[in-house]
Amino acid sequence: MTAPVDPTTTAAWSTLTALTTSLEPDLRGWFAADPGRAERFSLTAGDLFVDLSKNLLTDEVLAALVALGREVGLEARRDAMYAGERINTTENRSVLHTALRRPRTDSVVVDGIDVVPGVHEVLDKVYGFAEQVRSGAWQGVTGKRIQTVVNIGIGGSDLGPVMVYEALKPYVQPGLSCRFVSNIDPTDVAEKTADLDPETTLFIVASKTFTTLETLTNARLARDWLLRTLAAQGAIDGSDGARADAIAKHFVAVSTALDKVAAFGIDPANAFGFWDWVGGRYSVDSAVGTSLAVALGPDAFADFLAGFRAIDEHFASEPLERNVPALMGLLNVWYVNFFGAASHAVLPYAQYLHRFAAYLQQLTMESNGKGVRWDGTPVTTATGEVFWGEPGTNGQHAFYQLIHQGTQLIPADFIAVATPAHPLTDGDADVHELFLANFFAQTKALAFGKTADEVRAEGTAEPIVWARVFPGNRPTTSIMAPALTPSVVGQLIALYEHITFTQGVVWGINSFDQWGVELGKQLALQIAPAVAGVAAALQAQDPSTRNLVGYYLSHRG
Ligand code: F6P
Repeated sequence: MTAPVDPTTTAAWSTLTALTTSLEPDLRGWFAADPGRAERFSLTAGDLFVDLSKNLLTDEVLAALVALGREVGLEARRDAMYAGERINTTENRSVLHTALRRPRTDSVVVDGIDVVPGVHEVLDKVYGFAEQVRSGAWQGVTGKRIQTVVNIGIGGSDLGPVMVYEALKPYVQPGLSCRFVSNIDPTDVAEKTADLDPETTLFIVASKTFTTLETLTNARLARDWLLRTLAAQGAIDGSDGARADAIAKHFVAVSTALDKVAAFGIDPANAFGFWDWVGGRYSVDSAVGTSLAVALGPDAFADFLAGFRAIDEHFASEPLERNVPALMGLLNVWYVNFFGAASHAVLPYAQYLHRFAAYLQQLTMESNGKGVRWDGTPVTTATGEVFWGEPGTNGQHAFYQLIHQGTQLIPADFIAVATPAHPLTDGDADVHELFLANFFAQTKALAFGKTADEVRAEGTAEPIVWARVFPGNRPTTSIMAPALTPSVVGQLIALYEHITFTQGVVWGINSFDQWGVELGKQLALQIAPAVAGVAAALQAQDPSTRNLVGYYLSHRG
């Protein structure tokens, strides 16, 4: 594995540093002086129209960012990822989520084995299962068709499926719905099963490792609930055979560890596999998306995969100068490393994308929230900004104040679609048009602001003029698509996967491990006996933890 290039030693970094000093951000002036700016800095990738022109971007900055990408070897590392080289160094694994969306006719040979036929074998199995559930051929233990699919998983085995399910609600087959249980807080499983009929409920236990405490605990709780409520309804007797039959009809699994699935009691025939070269947060397009294939149907799922593929192909083939994910990733580097941006807002003007920011938080922050490079040496510059967001216009009435007038630079991505799922009117007004007017207004206000003279011209009293000034030059990227289709959702996910990858390469980070989540998991297991009241375990804790556990022990009702 080649050593990471220290980005701060590149000529492009020096150029960018010099530009930071000389550049006086002036989006008003830049647009006024250059009528071609909007066109020149707008690109398409797949169905996505991406307007970069309201960024703190000039031709010099763009050239230097592209040069930075080249100097750190972005293209070579991208090619290495696509070819299945083991770029996940700490786990010695290939990184091949892009292989999950390759057509049947493609091949990706890793260690002498073409992985594409295996991908399609699993997809065919998932699609076959989905068709059975959708048609009613798959029946619960009492012969009823399935109405509710409950996906049990966490992190990458939850966030992707939830987000996409919510995004594509109009595509869900009537009579079917999905729920998602993730938190080990018993409230989650209790609430999500409270009103369900066990005879029409199917659980999908999704866990790459099939060792995750939350998922296995919730799967056991769900299994107990199923057997208890079926027995209480007289649907099964208490015999081992009846219980095993019920589990077989109401539980399937998704995992790379099919032996552990069998040990849990789920028939391996009802398990859908994937591979260690798919990272959890990159897995919604694998069998982890089984709940989606059931709810949306195989055709929609295939469109979803085609959307990913369109962006994969764009990322693989477009020169960096016109490569949307690469440029968006490089712009993020520009803001983090040269403007001190500590966070990045993602603001979908599409209610159906209300879980998109939550999904991106794992994708981006579990990938790039690191202080060590892929060769084990420390990073040489700031990395891993916080990603966050809410759907517009809700965010406008909550936190946009800080983006407009606060002291921190917060780059923001605005996402909208032209055709709404629900074309409602309020009197003569098309409500989607009102909605989009807000999208356009916000990016305009952030870019161009409002000067003191403009405020004064409105007759504002002098003492409050400055409170009403908008500085502008707050960078935004606008992403528009024709409609929120399965393909477009796949395109949006792949776009952010490759943005994340680009930033990781510049910083020299292995974006595909997640050791930072391990310590807390280990400590939770160590502390659990103390919480259960074992005195010696309690004494072994630090004083603060001891007090907190003590509070719990004396206050639990
Ligand atoms: O704890 C983090 C993590 O490993 C994520 O990377 C992963 O998506 C999640 O846990 C769930 O893991 P699994 O799918 O193996 O249950």
